[in-house]
Amino acid sequence: MNAQAVNRIFVPGDMLAVALGADELVAALTVEAKKRNISIEIIRNGSRGICWAETLLEVQTDAGRVAYGNVTAADVTSLFDANFLSGGDHEKTLGLTQEIPWLAKQERVIFNRCGIIDPLSLNEFIETGGFAGLGKALQMSGSQIVEQILQSGLRGRGGAGFPTGIKWQTVLDTAGAIKHIVCNADEGDSGTFSDRLIMEGDPFRLIEGMVIAGIATGAEHGVIYLRSEYLFAVKMMKEAINIALAGNWVGANIQGSGKTFDLRVFVGAGSYVCGEETALLESLEGKPGIVRSKPPLPAIEGLFGQPTVINNVITLCAVPDILAKGGDWHASLGIGRSTGTLPFQLAGNVAKGGLVELPFGSSLQKLLHDFTEGTKDGSNIRAVQVGGPLGAYLPPELFDTLTGYEEFTAIGAGIGHGGIVIYGQSTNMREQAKYAFEFCAEESCGKCTPCRIGSIRGYELLATEQIDKSLIDDLCEVMIAGSACAMGAMTPIPVQSLMRYWPEDFEDKS
Ligand SMILES: Cc1cc2nc3c(=O)[nH]c(=O)nc-3n(C[C@H](O)[C@H](O)[C@H](O)COP(=O)(O)O)c2cc1C
Ligand code: SF4
Repeated sequence: MNAQAVNRIFVPGDMLAVALGADELVAALTVEAKKRNISIEIIRNGSRGICWAETLLEVQTDAGRVAYGNVTAADVTSLFDANFLSGGDHEKTLGLTQEIPWLAKQERVIFNRCGIIDPLSLNEFIETGGFAGLGKALQMSGSQIVEQILQSGLRGRGGAGFPTGIKWQTVLDTAGAIKHIVCNADEGDSGTFSDRLIMEGDPFRLIEGMVIAGIATGAEHGVIYLRSEYLFAVKMMKEAINIALAGNWVGANIQGSGKTFDLRVFVGAGSYVCGEETALLESLEGKPGIVRSKPPLPAIEGLFGQPTVINNVITLCAVPDILAKGGDWHASLGIGRSTGTLPFQLAGNVAKGGLVELPFGSSLQKLLHDFTEGTKDGSNIRAVQVGGPLGAYLPPELFDTLTGYEEFTAIGAGIGHGGIVIYGQSTNMREQAKYAFEFCAEESCGKCTPCRIGSIRGYELLATEQIDKSLIDDLCEVMIAGSACAMGAMTPIPVQSLMRYWPEDFEDKS
C-alpha cells in the first residue's frame, strides 16, 4: 500500500447509517489507518437506498467503487487485512457498486447522484448536471417553464397525484404582490423515507426545483416545511441553503438574472395531519394544525392568504431534469397518465428493504420479486399496504396490478407517496383494521365529527367479539361522505380492504 496516495472511502452520513453505527465505523477507520500509516479521506455521502446493506461502505478503485455491506466498526481490522482499499475480497464484499443487482435493475433519475456525491459539494453537484435545469429556466418566461411541466405530465408525489403544471399555472395566473413556494417535507406516511433520503443525500436538487418553481410562478419566497424528527435533513437543508446563497443560486439577482428567490426551513411540530396542505399552511402561520375548508385553493389563497404552490419534495426534485431534458422526455417514461419515475420505498416484514426508483408501469409482483427477496421471517407475503396509513391492503391475487395512478384507482387503491409495507403470514388483519381507526383517532385534527368520533367508534366496533360488518360499512360510508379531508375520508380504505380480502380474520372470536 502506497503510504502517500489518498484513498477515498465513502461512509453514508444519513440517519439510518448513523443509527446503525456509521459514526463509530468512521472513527475506527480513522484510528486503524493512522496505525498503519495509510492516508485516507472519508466522504460522508448520502444513502444509496440499499437499506438492507447499511452501513454500506464504498472505496474508490481504478475499476470503480467497490462496496462492502452491513459493515460495522468490528470489521475494520479485517477489512484492512483484506486490502479493501484496493477492493480486496472480504466476507462483506458486494463487488462493484454499480453492478449490485439491486441498483443495476433500477432506473434512477431523481436519485441519480444520491449516495454518489458529497451532498454539500456544490462543485460535485454541478459536475453531475446540477443547475442545468435552472440555467435553462433562467432564460425562459414563467409560462414557458409551466408549459414544459404541463407537457411532462408530472403529477404530485405527495399522495393525491394532482397535475403539477395545472397547480403552477393557477399560481402564475393569480395576481399577487407576494407569492410562495412551499415544499411539503412532512413525510408522515408509514414506511416512507424518499423525502428524507434525497434531502440528506442531494439537497441542492430540492433547492434547484424550488427556485425553478419560483421563477415559473413569480414567487420570490420559498419555505421547506420539514418534520421535526428529521434532524439530519433539517441540518443538511440549512447548510445547503447557505452554500447555495454564497454561490448566488438562491437569494437576490440569481446568477445575474435579476430573479430573486429567498429560501428557508421551517421545522414542523410532529403531527400527521400537518402534512395535509392546508393544515400545513396553518402551522406555518403559527396556528394549530387544523385543516382549512376548500375553496379557496392554496394556489389562490394560500400562505398568509397569498397565492401559494405546495408541492411534495419528490415532485420538486423531479423538476430540474424536466427543464434540462424537456417535458417530452419525462412524458416518455412511465405508462398512460403516470409519467416519469417513482422512488418506491420497500419496508415492513421484508428481507431486503430500501428505495427502488423505476418508471411507473412495472407490476407490484415484479417489484416484490426483483428486489425484496420476500419477507424477513421467511413466510409467504400475506399482504402489502401501498400508499401510507390511508392506503389499501392488497392480497397476492392483485400483485399483477401495474404501478400507475389509474391502475391503482381501478382496484380501489392508491399509490400515494410510493410506500410499500410488506406483511407476512403472522399478521392479524383485524388488528390492522383496528390500527387504522386508532391512527385516525390519534391524528385527527378534530374539526369534523365523522373523523374525530367515527374513528373511535370504529375501533370499538372492531374490538367487540362478534363484529357487525354492516354497521362498520355504514360508519365507513359516513366517514367518506362527511369528512372534510382525506384523513377521515380515506381511513375506510384500509379497513374495508382488510375486511374484503381477509374475511376469515374478522370471524366471531367467541
Ligand atoms: C392527512 C394527510 C397527510 C398528508 N401528508 C403529506 C405529507 O406528509 N407529505 C406530502 O407531500 N403530502 C402530504 N399530504 C398531501 C398534501 O395535502 C398535498 O396534496 C401535497 O403536499 C401536494 O403536493 P404534490 O402535488 O406535490 O403531491 C397529506 C394529505 C393528507 C390528507
Ligand atoms: S377529516 Fe379529520 S383530519 Fe380532516 S378536517 Fe376532518 S377532523 Fe380534521
